[in-house]
Amino acid sequence: MSTRHFLSLDDLSLDELNHIIERAIELKALHQQGLEERPFVGKVLGMIFEKSSTRTRVSFEAGMAQLGGSAIFLSPRDTQLGRGEPIEDTARVLSRMVDIVMIRTFEHASIERFAQYASVPVINALTDLLHPCQLLADIQTFTEHRGSISGKRVAWIGDGNNMCQSYINAAVKCGFTLHIACPPGYEPSQSMVDDAGDLVRIFHDPAQAIAGCDLVTTDVWASMGQEEEQQTRLRDFANFKVDHALMAKAAENAIFLHCLPAHREEEVSAALLEDDNISKVWDQAENRMHAQKALMEFLLTPQQKS
Ligand code: CP
Ligand code: NVA
Repeated sequence: MSTRHFLSLDDLSLDELNHIIERAIELKALHQQGLEERPFVGKVLGMIFEKSSTRTRVSFEAGMAQLGGSAIFLSPRDTQLGRGEPIEDTARVLSRMVDIVMIRTFEHASIERFAQYASVPVINALTDLLHPCQLLADIQTFTEHRGSISGKRVAWIGDGNNMCQSYINAAVKCGFTLHIACPPGYEPSQSMVDDAGDLVRIFHDPAQAIAGCDLVTTDVWASMGQEEEQQTRLRDFANFKVDHALMAKAAENAIFLHCLPAHREEEVSAALLEDDNISKVWDQAENRMHAQKALMEFLLTPQQKS
């Protein structure tokens, strides 16, 4: 049986995605009741981080431990990857020693190359192009609070970055409408927008984009690797802060999500971020762990695929 990877939401069918979300909700309940099983005893997750992380590292490590397995944190500073050992060689060596690998890196092509040479499942834990693990948690969080996301209307306010592009994939996969509001010049990939057809619309006015939306989400204005653009971006995105006044234009009962880390009074007001009636960001962060446990179970247990 060929190895399954999770580099993008496109690597899952809709049935498989729905299965993972349902299972994440189930695993969360089992964890909360102390009834979790330990199917990963003896299994090892290799974690390659070429960028910083709080949520991703802790959610994968904790999740693996809770299911009986273990994880190894690998940074370029401490591995031969950082001294120029080819990705192809690293992929083949790690595949002989660990059962599954997650990678956070810059170029998406690097993770594709790693996956091509790996004989164990590879998970995208963020590239400059996509952040699909975060979407599993976001879909789980919306589902828990408001039911199925299919057929709903979602607003992305801010940069057309990796998170935004994973939202485009999710809109197509799950069948929801996505309104993206960004300053001119900060649009997501045109080909992804074109491929999404009527489901995705680009706006330059946040108030127009958010009208009637059931979910409103945003992200930092300068992603990891764009630190030098910080000041320019602060100016260019000045009208794209999500706050209570903007949220008031969304649908009644709309919720707010943010993948975190958040910059208060930049992309989101502190008051909105801390408003538990609207903002579900702490559930969303926790759900990274449950969703990735379900994902790893799916990738490591072929017979459970739907
Ligand atoms: N949302 C997210 O991926 O957070 P970290 O960068 O802390 O992993
Ligand atoms: N777009 C952000 C997401 C961080 C989780 C970044 O790439 O830095």
